[in-house]
Amino acid sequence: MTLDAATLDMLFLNARTHAHWQDRPVSDATLQEAWDLARMAPTAANCQPLRLLFVKSAEAKERLKPALAPGNVEKTMKAPATAICAFDLDFPELLPRLFPQTDAKSWFAGKPEATEASARQSATLQAAYFLIACRTQGLDLGPMGGFDAGKVDAAFFPDGRVKSFLLMNIGYGDCAKLHPRNPRLEFAEACKIL
Ligand SMILES: Cc1cc2nc3c(=O)[nH]c(=O)nc-3n(C[C@H](O)[C@H](O)[C@H](O)COP(=O)(O)O)c2cc1C
Repeated sequence: MTLDAATLDMLFLNARTHAHWQDRPVSDATLQEAWDLARMAPTAANCQPLRLLFVKSAEAKERLKPALAPGNVEKTMKAPATAICAFDLDFPELLPRLFPQTDAKSWFAGKPEATEASARQSATLQAAYFLIACRTQGLDLGPMGGFDAGKVDAAFFPDGRVKSFLLMNIGYGDCAKLHPRNPRLEFAEACKIL
């Protein structure tokens, strides 16, 4: 079984990164639908270290603003929602529940570097899964690396156990304001089969 052409267009071929938004809110229920899909995708030892903080209120947006690169301020302030994508360094505590078939928690005991590397790796994958899951719900997104993670963490995650690594604006994009799509690498440029 494969997906039909309209679905492939929606998820990949016509889907774009957006910076301009329709005046249309994003419901909490739609964000939850996207999470319920994205959470099923794989992570290392099923550790699921991604934590999402959805910034929707004007007050929370103002708290986020000083951490944004100048070029990301307007699109973020105008987006109906901005997801702060972060990883939880305490994810091993949940492994007895999430991966009960073995003592996976012990793999990370006394290993802060391995813990952070694993958290960042799986959470980054989860952020990508979430982006695609949002597209299945008709949402548009604008991922952003241009922000000061230290400032975001101080403002939103002061306990030091949760670390931000990506922001994603979420809404319904204004397609009239898109620039032409930039090229993508061909299979032969990026891939090899041995
Ligand atoms: C990890 C990551 C970081 C990005 N950071 C920024 C950013 O800080 N500001 C911005 O305007 N766009 C940012 N982008 C958007 C990319 O430039 C955009 O997704 C890419 O050019 C593809 O555009 P398209 O989906 O419209 O083809 C980022 C995208 C990703 C995936």
